[in-house]
Amino acid sequence: MSIRTVSTQPYADQKPGTSGLRKKVPVFQQPHYLENFVQSIFDSINAPQGATLVLGGDGRFYNRTAIQIILKMAAANGFGKVLVGRGGILSTPAASCVIRKHKTFGGIILSASHNPGGPKEDFGIKYNSGNGGPATETVTEAIFAKSKALSSYKILDAADVALDMLGISALGDMQVQVIDPVSDYAELMESLFDFAAIRALLKSGFKIKFDAMHAVNGPYAKDIIENRLGATTGSVMNAVPLEDFGGGHPDPNLTYAHDLVEIMYGDDAPDFGAASDGDGDRNMILGKHFFVTPSDSLALLAANATLVPGYKQGLAGIARSMPTSAAADRVALALNIPCYETPTGWKFFGNLMDAGKVTLCGEESFGTGSNHVREKDGLWAVLFWLNIVAARKQSVESITREHWAKYGRNFYSRYDYEGLPTEAANGVMSHLRDSFGALAGKQFGKYTIKTCDDFSYTDPVDGSVSKNQGIRILFSDGSRIIFRLSGTGTEGATLRVYLEAFEADTARHHLDAQAALKELISIALRVSELQSRTGRDKPTVIT
Ligand code: G1P
Ligand code: ZN
Repeated sequence: MSIRTVSTQPYADQKPGTSGLRKKVPVFQQPHYLENFVQSIFDSINAPQGATLVLGGDGRFYNRTAIQIILKMAAANGFGKVLVGRGGILSTPAASCVIRKHKTFGGIILSASHNPGGPKEDFGIKYNSGNGGPATETVTEAIFAKSKALSSYKILDAADVALDMLGISALGDMQVQVIDPVSDYAELMESLFDFAAIRALLKSGFKIKFDAMHAVNGPYAKDIIENRLGATTGSVMNAVPLEDFGGGHPDPNLTYAHDLVEIMYGDDAPDFGAASDGDGDRNMILGKHFFVTPSDSLALLAANATLVPGYKQGLAGIARSMPTSAAADRVALALNIPCYETPTGWKFFGNLMDAGKVTLCGEESFGTGSNHVREKDGLWAVLFWLNIVAARKQSVESITREHWAKYGRNFYSRYDYEGLPTEAANGVMSHLRDSFGALAGKQFGKYTIKTCDDFSYTDPVDGSVSKNQGIRILFSDGSRIIFRLSGTGTEGATLRVYLEAFEADTARHHLDAQAALKELISIALRVSELQSRTGRDKPTVIT
């Protein structure tokens, strides 16, 4: 076996976003494309000789090929050991868990999250550092800079490593240890949650359905929910991870997790339903004929945290992304703990957690997490809910309704206008900015605008400032309208409008969110001139 130095030409399009480098599979299949990016990572992270890495992915098409290439390159670049999930599988939160537990130098995660997979679909790669969280912007910038100037990479000439059996093998001077992808993660879950109470709940006839969406959480949910917690076989559906996720869109929301939604709203609906995404970090929670919004879910987890063994000491603080509803803020106020409002994107939570300032965090886009790892964690959120249900012995719906009665309800909805011409979308945003002065103090029916601003965030840990993170129209009763351009869309611009109406009156809590938000929606359309500026009379998706 010898190390080969291969001459290469740089690619110009290897700028990693906050979730790493995401491209269509054929882009990754170009000669040296993946190799260039991996070499750029290795050249940027200053790993000492003999360092250990974690490696795994969500199992989508190209996962296995990429794993073999990365292993051979790690061996050629002086790494001492790589812990790789069996079959190349590790969910994103499990990879974070393994990095932290085994104190490795870092890890490489292969995933394009909730995007479809397959030969013509998406693939992705990202580097996580020793805290288990995504690399900082300084590191991703360094990777990008390297990628633009790369002239060669190093790879070991060797046969493929067998990945389907646990054990240690040698690859040149490096060890490859194939680990069970589930056990470290499952152990962490057992240390946080009252498995005995959840087991008793499930034994008592409480029925659950978990939709793994043919994605990475299948084996995790099978082992934890069915084997360890004793849910009846079949409680986990679509449990076998497929390279193309069965042709579906592995995103746990009311639109894409329709199989589960049909079951949960059907005649013989189970008591509890949940789903997670391609790489296992997002979650959706349902009760019988009942949907819990991610914003409410975060608030509910916070309010009930002390019922869960891992959080019984209470929370240091809560963090939510700015467009996420202020339901969590009301809980934080009652608990007398800080609530941080961060820009959209998970990276802002990591700093707060490393500094011990927050325990729980979440986003309206179906991401919830805690300081147990440094990624959002889908299955963790599901187990947290099950623990609360087991402790309170109430249905998901009644727990949620009691929560609203105590704290008030933040009616919430998101309107996405996808594939807009960039000019038109920017036009809406600049028109709104120009209107800040005129809008302040203006009254629309029962709503009075208190202030408008462009959200800016100063990181309380490192002092860095992130500007222009979305336009906020704040009303005097706590209601809000937010306008924000997506940072992850691929075609044209995606404009997101987030609507939130606070309702203290319990008699109105039964309302449908769209009905409760009707007036705010019309205010949003009026002040933004969205319809005339974009030519769209309805959103592409309503969540
Ligand atoms: C979207 C979500 C955001 C999430 C990100 C990555 O980003 O809105 O909350 O962190 O995906 O999963 P956006 O397209 O809105 O920029
Ligand atoms: Zn994901």
